[in-house]
Amino acid sequence: MIPDKVPHDDVYRAPQELVKRAHVPNFDKYKELYLKSIQNPDDFWGKIAEDFFWKTPPTGKFLDYNFDVTKGKIYVKCMEGATTNICYNVLDRNVHERSLGDKVAFYWEGNEPGDELTVTYSELLQQVCRFANVLKSLGVKKGDRVSIYMPMVVELVVAMLACARIGAVHSIVFAGFSAESLFDRIMDSQCCILITADGFYRGDKLVSLKVIADDALQKCTDMGVSVQKCIVLKHLSKEEPGSQSPPAKRPCPDLQQERPRENVRKTHPKPQVPWNPEVDLCWHTLVGGASDECEPEWCESEDPLFILYTSGSTGKPKGVLHTVSGYMLYTATTFKLVFDYQSDDVYWCTADIGWITGHSYITYGPMANGATSVLFEGLPTYPDTSRLWEVVDKYQVTKFYTAPTAIRLLMKYGSAPVQKYKRDSLKVLGTVGEPINPEAWLWYYSVVGEKRCPVVDTYWQTETGGHVLTPLPAATPMKPGSATFPFFGVVPAILNESGEELEGPSDGYLVFKQAWPGIMRTVYGNQQRFEATYFQKFPGYYVTGDGCRRDKDGYFWITGRIDDMLNVSGHLLSTAEVESALVEHPAVSEAAVVGRPHPVKGESLYCFVTLRDGVSYTSVLETELKQQVREKIGAIATPDYMQNAPGLPKTRSGKIMRRVLRKIAQNERDLGDVSTLADSSVIEQLFNNRCPTAV
Ligand code: WTA
Repeated sequence: MIPDKVPHDDVYRAPQELVKRAHVPNFDKYKELYLKSIQNPDDFWGKIAEDFFWKTPPTGKFLDYNFDVTKGKIYVKCMEGATTNICYNVLDRNVHERSLGDKVAFYWEGNEPGDELTVTYSELLQQVCRFANVLKSLGVKKGDRVSIYMPMVVELVVAMLACARIGAVHSIVFAGFSAESLFDRIMDSQCCILITADGFYRGDKLVSLKVIADDALQKCTDMGVSVQKCIVLKHLSKEEPGSQSPPAKRPCPDLQQERPRENVRKTHPKPQVPWNPEVDLCWHTLVGGASDECEPEWCESEDPLFILYTSGSTGKPKGVLHTVSGYMLYTATTFKLVFDYQSDDVYWCTADIGWITGHSYITYGPMANGATSVLFEGLPTYPDTSRLWEVVDKYQVTKFYTAPTAIRLLMKYGSAPVQKYKRDSLKVLGTVGEPINPEAWLWYYSVVGEKRCPVVDTYWQTETGGHVLTPLPAATPMKPGSATFPFFGVVPAILNESGEELEGPSDGYLVFKQAWPGIMRTVYGNQQRFEATYFQKFPGYYVTGDGCRRDKDGYFWITGRIDDMLNVSGHLLSTAEVESALVEHPAVSEAAVVGRPHPVKGESLYCFVTLRDGVSYTSVLETELKQQVREKIGAIATPDYMQNAPGLPKTRSGKIMRRVLRKIAQNERDLGDVSTLADSSVIEQLFNNRCPTAV
C-alpha cells in the first residue's frame, strides 16, 4: 500500500540540513514506522503516550472501534480506563515537568503593526487557572458546554484551555460568523455561558462583536432559552461601554482599564458595547478577583473535549465532537512529525482558532510539544501585502503554515512584497484547507521558501482531528499538488461507486478503513446523523466526501468534494445551507447554488434563484439577497454571482441537475448527457440570463 520505491525524478526533496536533524529522516524510516503503526497500534501509540501525564495510566487496548453499520453502532474508543487532563498536559506538564515555564508560548501580533504581546507558558498557566476559577464560580461544571465567540487574542486560548481544565466542553464559533449562525450553534449545543469580546479590527474594518453576540442571545431568549451569562473581554474599547446603549443598561466599571495595545490604535473608532447587567460580566473584573490555583478535573479518555461545527450537506451544521486522550496524542504527534518540530522553532499557523486548524495546530498540538508560536490577529494584506513576511522576519519564524487561498492571493502581487523581507529563518512550509494547484505550490516553494523549504500539503478535516494524508518534510519526496501518503495509523482506500476498493492508479471516493486516535467520535446530540453522513454509503469505511486519485507512484491527489459541499477560500459551505438562506427571502420560491472555479478563493458561489409569481428580478433585490446570505451565515458565504432562473433544470423525478448548473455558471455549452432533463427549454433561458460579471 505504501510503495516500496518513490520516484527519483520530478520530485522535490528536503535539504540535507533538515534531514540531518529530522525525526523521520527518510522514506524507509517512514515506511517502517507506518507499518508498525498499522500492525501494532497499541505499541506504537503506547510509546507515544509515555511522554504524557496520566492520572490513571492507560492499560489494555489502545483503540477499539466499529466502522461497519451492518455490525451495530459506530464507535471509536481510545485508551479507555485512563484518566488525564489535556490542559494539564499542555501547560502544567511543560511548566513543572519540562522546565519550560519561561519559554514563550505565544507572540501575539495584533491587526495593527506594533500591537504585540508576549506570553510565556507559566504566565499562560496562571491566566488559565484564574479563568478556570471564574468559570467554576459561575457554576460551570464538567460536561457543561461553553460557547466562545472571540477574535484572535491570547484570551481565546485562555478561555478554551480553562474549559478543558475543568472538563467543560468548548464550542468555539468563528468570529466572522453571523448572529444567526452563533444562535444556531448555541442552541444546538445548549451552552450555558457565552464568552465574547467588545470587538476587533479586521484590516481597517471594525467588527462590533458584542452587538452581534447580543443579537444571537436575543434570538435565544425569543426561543425561550436563556444563556445565563455572557463574559465580555475588553479588547478595544476604552470609553465606558454602555455609553451608546439604552438607558436601562449600565456600563461595566472595570472596562476603564487600559490594555497596552490600546495606544497603538488611538485614532481608530471604538466599538459599541451595549451592556446588560442581568447577563453581562466583565472579563477583567472577574479574573481580577480569581485565584491562580486550580486543580484540573481528571477526565476519562473518552470524555468530550470540544464541539466544533462544520457544514453539513443537509444544510444544518454538524457539531463534530472530539474527546480528550486520542485527540491530544494525535494532534501532538502530527504537529511534531509533520512540521518536524524542534525545540528552537518559532512556529506560525495563520488560521483562525475558530476553525479546526486553529484548534489542532495553534492551541493543542504545538502547546503539547511546548512550542513557541505566533498568534496573529491580522490579515495577509493589511496594512500591505508584505505583512506575512514582515512578521516572519520579525519573529524569525521557522515553520509556517497557511492556506492555498492566501498563497494565491499573495501570488497576484508578485515576488517583490515577499522579497522585501528576509525569510532565512524558514525551514518548513505547510498548506491546508483545499487542494493546492501546482502553480501556487511552486510559487510558495520557490519565492517564499527560496527552494530551501519542503512544502507539506496536509490533507485533513474537522472530523479527522489532525493530518491524515501528508508528507513528512524530510522523509517524503514531494510532488506539487499531492498530499502524498497517509500519516501513522491511517489506512486510506479509494472506492468506486459500487464500493469496491481500487488498486494501483485509480480515481474514486477517498475513505479510511480503520480508526486512528484523532477521529471524531460522534455528531453532538445526533449519533444517527454521524452514522448516516460518514458510514452508511460504504459499510466498513469512514467516507470523507472527497474525491481522490492515486497515481502510478502511489501518491494521493485530492480532487475536491464529491458531495454537495463547496470549498470557498478553504472554508466548507453546503449548497443547502446557502439555498435555505435564499429561500427564506419572501421574493424567492426556489434556489440552487453551485461552485464556480475562482482564481484566488478556489471556488466562488454562483446562485440561481427562482422568484415568486409577480416579483421581478432587479439589482436592488439581488443586493438584498446577497446581504441576506451574509446575515444568515456570515461574510464568507457572500455569493459572488447571482442570476434569475425562472426555471431550473430538473430530472423527471424533480431532482435539480447541479452538474448542468455548474456548466451554465462557467458558460460551458457542452452539457454532457441531458436526456434525463424534464424540460430542456429552461437551458437556453438560463444561458441568456447568465450573470454578466461571470465572464
Ligand atoms: C479540503 C480543514 C485538498 C477537503 C482542515 C476536506 C483539502 C475539507 C486539504 C475539510 C488539502 C483540506 N488538499 N483538500 N491539503 N485540506 N481540504 O473540515 O475537501 O474545514 O474534506 O478542515 O477541506 O475542511 P475542514
